[in-house]
Amino acid sequence: MTTPRSIAIVGAGFMGVGLARIFRDKGWPVAAFDVDAGVLDALVAAVPGTRAASSLRDAVADAEFVIEAVSEKPALKQAIFAEMAACTRAGTVLASNSSVIQVGVITANVPDEHAGRCIGTHFWNPPELIPLVEVIAGPRSADWAIDTAMAVLADAGKEPVRVRADTVPGNRMQHALWREAIALVQEGVCLPEEVDHIVRRSFGLRLAALGPIENADLIGLDLTQQIHDIVFPVTNRSDAANPLLADKIAAGALGAKSGAGFYDGWTDQRTAAVKKRLADHLDEQLG
Ligand SMILES: NC(=O)c1ccc[n+]([C@@H]2O[C@H](COP(=O)([O-])OP(=O)(O)OC[C@H]3O[C@@H](n4cnc5c(N)ncnc54)[C@H](O)[C@@H]3O)[C@@H](O)[C@H]2O)c1
Repeated sequence: MTTPRSIAIVGAGFMGVGLARIFRDKGWPVAAFDVDAGVLDALVAAVPGTRAASSLRDAVADAEFVIEAVSEKPALKQAIFAEMAACTRAGTVLASNSSVIQVGVITANVPDEHAGRCIGTHFWNPPELIPLVEVIAGPRSADWAIDTAMAVLADAGKEPVRVRADTVPGNRMQHALWREAIALVQEGVCLPEEVDHIVRRSFGLRLAALGPIENADLIGLDLTQQIHDIVFPVTNRSDAANPLLADKIAAGALGAKSGAGFYDGWTDQRTAAVKKRLADHLDEQLG
């Protein structure tokens, strides 16, 4: 198998910029496309050497490996995958960076003869710094497409991990925590900054060295069982987003991008400082 080198990024927003940088930094040809010309220009300015494509077809027609990073909308991704399947070569792998939408849903409109080469590759934010990428097979994905993605990502310096089902395990775990964190604020148990302080200065410190399953073995599964029997009845089990989010969104408080969210006083400077704090921490952790 010859590992693909020619990369296309579809969707030049937040993740698209980082994705383009990963492959551009390897010296591989990268083309990008976005419906928003301003966003595409910004990507090329941030990642010089990336080619700004004039259309989706122009971006993907000669690519060997395509990563879709458009907005998290099922119908949009379905339309893009159907179009990409129709205008790419038979050996080109089409990968979605979706955080939570199943590959089977994203590829619903892709004919069987093209579905084998459609998969998920879930990069984490910031994609150029977080090593792990979840590689996800949908119900019709072919082994060769998964194997190709594993090889491309490893060559690009990432740590690809093959997921055993059509789901994103990392985000299921992450958002189980976020559900509880937001519920603690909504119930008045903690202020937002107290939630973050508790996580950052207690179990959050451990997580990079000790995952939850190994930790359960370490403290004992009997103790784990006792704790879960007591704590699970008081944890949040809602199957929808917390209404506190809807209240804040309705009030125009969307977080950093609108100046306020759970915290007030988000300025461009503060946003940049928080991103730098994260990048410095990751650099230090990863050596
Ligand atoms: N932001 C994160 O932390 C993060 C992390 C992991 C995965 N993801 C996933 O990556 C994807 C992109 O997320 P993002 O945060 O970069 O979003 P974003 O909003 O920053 O960028 C999405 C881009 O898609 C473009 N777009 C919309 N319709 C398009 C079309 N028809 N053709 C081409 N481009 C189109 C938009 O103009 C926009 O620039 C989503 O599926 C998201 O779930 C995001």
